[in-house]
Amino acid sequence: MKFFEQDIIRLNNEADTRALGHRIAEAAEPGDVVALIGDLGTGKTALTKYIAEGLGIKGDISSPTFTIVKEYRSGRLPLYHFDVYRLGSGDELIDIGAEEMLDGDGLCVIEWADIVADVLPEDALAIRLDYGENEGERIAEIL
Ligand SMILES: Nc1ncnc2c1ncn2[C@@H]1O[C@H](COP(=O)(O)OP(=O)(O)OP(=O)(O)O)[C@@H](O)[C@H]1O
Ligand SMILES: [Mg+2]
Repeated sequence: MKFFEQDIIRLNNEADTRALGHRIAEAAEPGDVVALIGDLGTGKTALTKYIAEGLGIKGDISSPTFTIVKEYRSGRLPLYHFDVYRLGSGDELIDIGAEEMLDGDGLCVIEWADIVADVLPEDALAIRLDYGENEGERIAEIL
């Protein structure tokens, strides 16, 4: 994805996360992959929700923990939202037919992407989310 360079972005509150999500949505082109890494509750789903909002997707998105992937088609680009927490390897991601989505016509956003890193494209936008010092603060590191 163009426009994002290695950087550390302090997200002081959820509004900052929303603004980052909107920036990613604006920059996204068909076939782009956003790889989200970070512990429980650091905001992977929240960031995905704001990317979806930025794409103009209508309605709520919720984490696809049991289905692994959910597809949304009401925005500027299709969004494939993955949560691979329950997978053991990249091969398992390929087994569920993800290749078509990874090389596809939309934007893939993948929570817990470190688990499947070996099958993701080299030019994926990898973002690590961490807790900050203060309540509501998160740190996004563009890797
Ligand atoms: N700056 C912030 N950015 C994003 N979320 C924030 C921020 N501050 C507080 N939050 C809250 O942190 C929580 C993040 O939860 P979320 O489900 O997005 O995390 P997650 O990384 O997807 O967790 P999981 O590993 O369970 O999938 C939400 O309740 C959100 O409201
Ligand atoms: Mg989540």
